[in-house]
Parts: sequence; structure tokens; C-alpha cells
Amino acid sequence: MPVHVAVIMDGNGRWAQKRGLPRVEGHREGMNSVRSIINQCGELGISYLTLYAFSTENWKRPGPEIQFLMNLLIEYLKKELAELHRQGVRIRMLGTRERVPEKVLKSIDQAIAMTQNNRGLQLNLAFNYGGRREILDAIERFCQQPSRPPLSEESFAGFLYTADIPDPDLLIRTSGEMRISNFLLWQLAYAEIVVSPVLWPDFRETEMAGVIAEFQKRERRFGGVESKSA
Ligand code: IPE
Ligand code: IPE
Ligand code: MG
Repeated sequence: MPVHVAVIMDGNGRWAQKRGLPRVEGHREGMNSVRSIINQCGELGISYLTLYAFSTENWKRPGPEIQFLMNLLIEYLKKELAELHRQGVRIRMLGTRERVPEKVLKSIDQAIAMTQNNRGLQLNLAFNYGGRREILDAIERFCQQPSRPPLSEESFAGFLYTADIPDPDLLIRTSGEMRISNFLLWQLAYAEIVVSPVLWPDFRETEMAGVIAEFQKRERRFGGVESKSA
């Protein structure tokens, strides 16, 4: 079983367009997939789930869609936080607070504070997240240290948003797109990538089980040689 699963939840707009609905209806339906995948990860004993909810590039979208996504996060937390807390889920945010409306930050902060001592699944919300921005933020914080630690992969990783989180073992992208879209650029170095053709609002238990099965067939080498020939 992977310890850390990261998901690029893609295809909401296409899901809606296929049904003749406005794009935002796909985002709304996508919330049901979020609930289902969180529950499943809890049941499977996965320790960390990172969901890409809004990228630093998503500010390029039309204003009303951005506004909808911001409000949807507030609505989601309002509706689900009590249940997540009951399940022992610990919530974290990965991303920059810049440009995010105050009321959205408030609801994220409240969710983090409420769940900080939980010991179940750790849910990382990549919200206003960009991989390049994260690396620049890390460099800035690294350079601000009064006595800088020697630069190494380990010491540098300690300045990323994911400081105390192991790298993802599995990256899932839905809707068939074969790209990273500025997600966890440093951390995905050796993740197994599974692209599902299914659009995010349709991605539920069965699809997730299929992706996990695919992951379990992979042989991870980390630059070494096949284990049986070692
Ligand atoms: C993913 O779905 C959700 C976000 C990026 C917030 P999209 O909105 O990108 O859906 P498509 O890719 O246009 O279908
Ligand atoms: C990536 O999806 C961002 C999120 C899922 C939040 P996009 O739909 O924004 O990515 P591109 O533009 O297709 O690369
Ligand atoms: Mg997309």
C-alpha cells in the first residue's frame, strides 16, 4: 500500500460540459469524489493524501469560476469538517496565502486548528499551490536562517511546505492528461504515476481500487537495479 498518495483532480469542467451544464457544476460534483476518496484512503490505511484543489496558475481562469472555487472550499469545510474530525483526519494546507481571500484563509485555519492533534489520515489540501513557487519560498526561507545549515537534499526539503511529510509514492491524475501542471515538482521525483482516463467527478471507489492495483504491480527501483537481479 502506498504511504502517501497525491491526486491531480482534473476533468471537472469537461464532466459538466459533456452534460450541457456550466463548468462549475463539475466542481460541485467533484466534491462527492473528494469525500469518497478520503473515506477510502482512511479505510485502506493510507497515511497521507494530498489533493490538488487550486493551482497558482488557476488565477488565470474567469473571475466567476475562481470565486466559485473559493466559496466551494468554504462550503466544503463547513459541511464536512465535523465528520472529518470525527474520523480522525488531520488537515494541512500546502500553498501560498497570497491573493487568497481572508474568509477562505479563516476557514482553512479553523480546519487546521481543529484537527491538528488527530492521528488518522493526514489530508493535505494543495490550495493556491505551485511547485515552482514552493521551491522559491523554500530558498527564501533557507537564506533567512541566521546560521544556515549545510545545503543538502534533506536540509533543503525541510524548508518546503511538505517539510515533515514523506514524498508521494503514487501520483494519480484523472481525465487522461499526461502532465504534472506544476504539482509537487521536488517531491514527485520517484513517484509512480498513474493517469486515469476517468473525469474527476466520476472517479470513485472502483477507479481508485484499480489505480492502487496498478501501483502494486509496479516495480520501484529508485535508480537501482531490479530486485531479483541484485
Ligand atoms: C480540475 O478540473 C479542477 C481545478 C483545476 C480546480 P478542471 O476545471 O481543470 O476541468 P477541465 O480540465 O477543464 O475539464
Ligand atoms: C491542475 O489542473 C490543477 C488542479 C487540478 C487544481 P489544471 O486543469 O489547472 O491543469 P492544466 O491547465 O490542464 O495543465
Ligand atoms: Mg483541467
